Amino acid sequence: MQDKQRQILVTSALPYANGSIHIGHLVEYIQTDIWVRFQKMQGHTCYYVCADDAHGTPIMLRAQKESISPEALIERISEEHQADFKDFSVTFDNFHSTHSDENQWLANTIYEELNKKGHINKRTIKQAYDPEKEMFLPDRFIRGECPKCGSSDQYGDSCESCGATYNPTDLKNPVSAISGSTPIEKESEHYFFKLGDFEDKLHKWTRAGHLQAEVTNKLDEWFEAGLQEWDISRDKPYFGFEIPNAPGKYFYVWLDAPIGYLASFKNLCDKTELNFDEWCSADSDTEMYHFIGKDIIYFHALFWPAMLEGSGFRTPSAIYAHGFLTVDGQKMSKSRGTFITARTYLNHLNHEYLRYYFAAKLGSGVDDIDLNLEDFTARVNSDLIGKVVNIASRCSGFIKKRFAGKLSAYIHDETLFKIMVDTNKDIANAYEAREYSKAMREIMALADKANQYIDGHKPWVIAKEEVRDEELQAVCTMGINCFRLLILYLKPVLPALAANTEDFLNITPMQWQDAALPLTDHQINKYKPLMTRVEKDHVDAMVKESKEDLNLNETKQEILTGPLADDPIADEISFEDFMKIDLRIAKIVKAEHIEGADKLLQLTLSLGDETRKVFAGIKSAYAPEDLEGKLTVMVANLAPRKMRFGLSEGMVLAAGPGGKDLFILHPAKGAEPGMKVK
Ligand code: 2FM
Ligand code: ZN
Repeated sequence: MQDKQRQILVTSALPYANGSIHIGHLVEYIQTDIWVRFQKMQGHTCYYVCADDAHGTPIMLRAQKESISPEALIERISEEHQADFKDFSVTFDNFHSTHSDENQWLANTIYEELNKKGHINKRTIKQAYDPEKEMFLPDRFIRGECPKCGSSDQYGDSCESCGATYNPTDLKNPVSAISGSTPIEKESEHYFFKLGDFEDKLHKWTRAGHLQAEVTNKLDEWFEAGLQEWDISRDKPYFGFEIPNAPGKYFYVWLDAPIGYLASFKNLCDKTELNFDEWCSADSDTEMYHFIGKDIIYFHALFWPAMLEGSGFRTPSAIYAHGFLTVDGQKMSKSRGTFITARTYLNHLNHEYLRYYFAAKLGSGVDDIDLNLEDFTARVNSDLIGKVVNIASRCSGFIKKRFAGKLSAYIHDETLFKIMVDTNKDIANAYEAREYSKAMREIMALADKANQYIDGHKPWVIAKEEVRDEELQAVCTMGINCFRLLILYLKPVLPALAANTEDFLNITPMQWQDAALPLTDHQINKYKPLMTRVEKDHVDAMVKESKEDLNLNETKQEILTGPLADDPIADEISFEDFMKIDLRIAKIVKAEHIEGADKLLQLTLSLGDETRKVFAGIKSAYAPEDLEGKLTVMVANLAPRKMRFGLSEGMVLAAGPGGKDLFILHPAKGAEPGMKVK
């Protein structure tokens, strides 16, 4: 029975227009796409919209680095993103850009409305400014020494060495990551959204069933800390929209990003007969859902509903947050080859394997999910090939050869058929609740039943006795009916497999309500293999290509996503300057843990005639006992530095991406402590 027809608008978070889509992003797009396809199969009106998140400093700088306009950059990335989505069967009803007329109009409208109602404040603040580049510096673009522990080369907001958080103005010896110059402090007037004005409303809204329980709990901590005013302006130069009546001031990227959801939908409305106001005005009785990652809850569950409420638009029906993706139990890593882009995956594997695997792992909560590559191979092969597709290949041959492709006129096992049909409700409930792993378990349990039926009736044995032709046709017809139902239930997850199955079965696109209809007395087409097994070689090749990508891309890495971006090459120095650095062979006579230090070891180094105590951030890669007695290279004439744990009298050289993969330099044989490094 069909529920009342619903009108549903769905979004996924907007990807930044300066980087490629990777498998971490795909968790969300696949999760959302499955939900949308399920709603559409139910016969509801459902629109799935998205856009590129095109504004902000990183995009502006990357375009400069490539010597192209930001418009040209976001155009190119948009094409790349859309090709990736299409090839993963992530099917938007509209894909737009936050750098669009619709978004500018909506951002201005919302801002002006908030301003009119007194929800905008102006105040002058001090910020780090790059005098050479003539721009204010976001926190991540300032590097310097941690004000707490003295570690060098830390970001402007937190120290990776001791974990301290601070203001960029507290950093010692700060440098601009863009130009290398020393930032100065400069005042500027900023615009603020008074989030606190909405405290009561938000408090109620966050408890009214719009959020997952664990998200509401997290928000409680923020309510307790008090809702701060939100800085929504940035000074020029900035790639974004200028704030009305505020020359040189731009909307901060995060102000117009969520508005981009509505802008994309407005763009769709303008292209079709849809009425934007009917969907988006405060009294709309349509539904609106945002799928997001758990890292951007603050923006979506506090700022966004407050902005909408304050400007007279509808608020979201719900926000659905998900967790992060790990690969083989660890954060995706470029050096391990597990930072896999959508395109690299597609170069080696069928996109529906990943759609199925994610579905088999996803629940409705915010827990992280793991892509274990061995489990991925085993699971897809066992479930999709072994349990589902095999049913079709086992039954279709007899139907084609012995009955000219015609299915029998009746259902052989009514009881099994009824079980398979009736389970549709549980499966539908699981999809609706985003409990996809439960839905996949239910479907695979039905697949087990179907296989038991076929194994019990053994069509390959019946086929040997001509007198049992009718039974053979009926058993194979039953198998094909089971297969059809399994594919119908899997259709939100595996749309390409479902479309090929519809061709093979010679049927129109399946809707959920078709579940109860048996396929009898019907002509099917010749079976063509619907899906092949995952080959380990292909998985290995994908990982290998991801590692190669790392090497290839290193020099052309986009600004702010690669090592060069995080650590821009410093100003050129003269040969004379270089010669000032006195590199010496040093013997590690003692290596010790330091109480309270996560990353540092204390090394006692012998230079032959003298010893030095040095702190080195190599604890993740070396145990003290591995180091004692070894030779390494140190900067011997570095001025002693006072650090949190004492005085460091020099520095040892190490290289590598970090973590376990960090290597101190070992000099060649014949080296002696104190020798100059040549
Ligand atoms: O975190 C991100 O990748 C943002 N680009 C998401 C924006 S979602 C929405 F608010 F636009
Ligand atoms: Zn520190």
